[in-house]
Amino acid sequence: MSCSVNIKNLSYEINGRVLFENLNLDISHKEKIAIVGSNGSGKSSLLKIIAGLIKPNKGKVFLFHEEMTSLKEYKKFRNEIGYLPQDVNDFFLCPTVIEDIMFNLRAKGLSKEEVYKKACLMLEQLDILPLQNRNIFDLSGGEQKIVALAAILISEPKILLLDEPTNALDDEAQEKIINILNSINKSMIIVSHHKSFIQSLTPTIYKLNQDNLKRL
Ligand SMILES: Nc1ncnc2c1ncn2[C@@H]1O[C@H](COP(=O)(O)OP(=O)(O)OP(=O)(O)O)[C@@H](O)[C@H]1O
Ligand SMILES: [Mg+2]
Repeated sequence: MSCSVNIKNLSYEINGRVLFENLNLDISHKEKIAIVGSNGSGKSSLLKIIAGLIKPNKGKVFLFHEEMTSLKEYKKFRNEIGYLPQDVNDFFLCPTVIEDIMFNLRAKGLSKEEVYKKACLMLEQLDILPLQNRNIFDLSGGEQKIVALAAILISEPKILLLDEPTNALDDEAQEKIINILNSINKSMIIVSHHKSFIQSLTPTIYKLNQDNLKRL
């Protein structure tokens, strides 16, 4: 099977507490999976390991069949991974919404005009165009989450790692995100506590429970 992410025998403990042990997971190109589990079960930690932000105690992560032997290895896949943290406080790099949305594509060398057009289209799709000139830190928690998601989606990463993309979002915003994520044919791991949201995206749901992943 051609996979974007393979996890083999992954173990992680923090402060002497085992969060998971010998965990295995394969995600093929264009496959969407969801991970659920109680508070503190280790879902965010697992996403951070896959994103290359923290190191597991044991086990291997492969991206596009290449083993990530160190956090440095992840560098070449930075543009391929779109990681939305659960807490987006430290996510933003620029003061205004439009600058943040445009940042990655501008860094890739695309022209200002082209990137601005794409950014406006993305903001329109998410129904947040009126926020474009607002200061990031004046936005509400829900608005910040949706802006962070827009900043990720505009770069069209090959793997999306989304940690509670809809927490703090109202029903309408959730609906828009469902439509957008359903229109994207990329590998996705979605961590969420919202059952109906998850079920609208994928039938493949795992529960992180008692240190391993179980298919529901
Ligand atoms: N940097 C850290 N230092 C100490 N403990 C940590 C750290 N990061 C996570 N933990 C602990 O690891 C456990 C798992 O945390 P994690 O954030 O992965 O859980 P989660 O499943 O995402 O929970 P939630 O549903 O509440 O978001 C928690 O008990 C948490 O306190
Ligand atoms: Mg979490």
